[in-house]
Amino acid sequence: MARETLRLTTTGSVDDGKSTLIGRLLFETKTIFEDQLLAIEKTSTRRGQSEVDLSLLLDGLAAEREQGITIDVAYRYFSTAKRRFIIADTPGHEQYTRNMITGASQAQLAIILIDASKGVQVQSRRHGFLLSLLRVPHLIVAINKMDKVDYSERVYQEIVDTYSHFSQKLSIQDIRYIPLSALKGDNVTTRSEAMPWYTGATLLHTLENVEVAADDNLIDFRFPVQYVMGHHNTQSQGMAATAALHPGDTFRGYAGQVASGQIRPGEAVAILPRGTRSRVRKVLTYDGPLAVAGAGTSVVLTLEDERDIGRGDMIVRPDNLPHSAQDIDAMLCWLGDAPMVPGRSYLLKHTTRTVKVRIEKLHYRIDVNTLGRVPSKGFALNEIGRVKLHTAAPLMFDAYASNRTTGSFILIDPDSAQTVAAGMIRGTVRDLTETPAEITPALWARRNTHQGAVIWMTGYSGAGKSTLAKALHQRLFDQHCQVVALDGDQLRQGLCKDLGFSAADRSENIRRAGEVARLFYLQGNLVICSFISPFLADRESVRALLPPEAMLEIYVDCDLNVCKQRDVKGLYRKALRGEIPDFTGVDSPYEPPLSPDLHLRSDQQSVEDCVNAILELLTQRQLLSL
Ligand code: ADX
Repeated sequence: MARETLRLTTTGSVDDGKSTLIGRLLFETKTIFEDQLLAIEKTSTRRGQSEVDLSLLLDGLAAEREQGITIDVAYRYFSTAKRRFIIADTPGHEQYTRNMITGASQAQLAIILIDASKGVQVQSRRHGFLLSLLRVPHLIVAINKMDKVDYSERVYQEIVDTYSHFSQKLSIQDIRYIPLSALKGDNVTTRSEAMPWYTGATLLHTLENVEVAADDNLIDFRFPVQYVMGHHNTQSQGMAATAALHPGDTFRGYAGQVASGQIRPGEAVAILPRGTRSRVRKVLTYDGPLAVAGAGTSVVLTLEDERDIGRGDMIVRPDNLPHSAQDIDAMLCWLGDAPMVPGRSYLLKHTTRTVKVRIEKLHYRIDVNTLGRVPSKGFALNEIGRVKLHTAAPLMFDAYASNRTTGSFILIDPDSAQTVAAGMIRGTVRDLTETPAEITPALWARRNTHQGAVIWMTGYSGAGKSTLAKALHQRLFDQHCQVVALDGDQLRQGLCKDLGFSAADRSENIRRAGEVARLFYLQGNLVICSFISPFLADRESVRALLPPEAMLEIYVDCDLNVCKQRDVKGLYRKALRGEIPDFTGVDSPYEPPLSPDLHLRSDQQSVEDCVNAILELLTQRQLLSL
């Protein structure tokens, strides 16, 4: 069987020992040739170093040796009996965020290096945030240079605690911590004798065994057509032969890479943007026809019918379509040396399609060090923020949260042909002016002396969401606000009584709640929503239904053990006994907000304090004038 390939990336601050770590991996997996090793030994000895300096292994980095920083993304390969590995080695220096984004955009796993003697740095947080934004599914925090801190368990644990506290705000589900010394080789490929207190796996063992197959999107078949191979196309001749067509048959195939999902001969397809239907006749490669092709495979599809298909079209399944829209809600990372010019046109390249685009609105920039939102008029190099784009022709896309390929794009400066930004699509921008009546949210606001908004509380069952909602409802009512409350338990008795607690049912539950909240919002209300809403992507879809200033995400954070002890409804007890399956916090996950508008600690603050904090936020945001 073919060995699996794992694509990974490494990040760290300058001097965290990244090059040494990569060198160590290459060295211990015997990827280095003996003579190269000899040369390094010589250099190291000449410099008076006692250890072999494995960072000298990395090719093409003369500049790094001079300046002490890595400058570009370099891809390195190594393999073991179990897996092949492709490392995108990206520099940690702040000015090189764009390299890091390039490296991480394809990665299934990322290693963040932290120097044990320095602890968690601003860079370590920045990188964690960027990796979570790019949805790298697995993260290893490698706490390096343990030899410098006497292999102290306490130092290790402090770093783990600090970083775990921070990473709760990120959307990375799988974070592991490994104490190691790349220089001495502890816990890289062999277990360290110096750290008997660490019982986890070594770095290499983790890299070899982390479960990545489930990360692929196997469901949504998306095939962006790269080019059309006709009978007379020279490139097609090899393929035409494998197509084994009758003499005189015209061969027409559609070449490209399967972006996600799978396809088999005989399956029905729709061709977008037109939506015409056909069936797959053959799935071809240069090595012959395939019975099934999955994500990442480059193939040529032939269809049963002759269709008018061109580059940039997308072949999908008729019952599983991507979104199609010209107004796009996206996160943008600015990579250009020149700052963004508001109002100017850029080119947007999305899969195999390139269209003209205008950045219509810049909602906010994210301060990656605090994760806070900052008002902003433009972007400079390495800045990240949320924008509304308008494309000259519709894009066929998925949200980045569900598809990293069809959910991403780059912006190109039409004059210099340089890539100036990388984007991640959140969803479509709905026309927020369509209301059931002619009375717009602005008209309601004028009469009410407060704006409409959705106050969305998320957190574990038993965290106190409903209690807070009730108290807040009362306070706003007392202030003569136009206010409604939507609560999980209530909706589930009626509107959502057909739904259970599977991930899909919860998504649907939150979708309905979000749509209802939106209707109330459009009619001037302050809408208090209290739902566990455990999944980040679902909450983000609610956000996409509203103008950015109208959604306040409130994280009702309560220690899970406290929720279990409170157990007001006795549900945790039942869930722990196995009587309720898929219970959040027991056997179903909760993804905390990435950057909530307000973070409450309901296990530490009183109900009154929490409600006051919410009212304060409403006032601060000028939604409420008190
Ligand atoms: S959500 O996950 O879809 O957002 P929602 O907030 O509507 O959940 O409903 C949560 C409420 O349903 C809980 O407060 C609890 O009373 C009840 N419940 C019943 N079964 C479950 C379960 N498996 N997981 C979570 N809550 C459950």
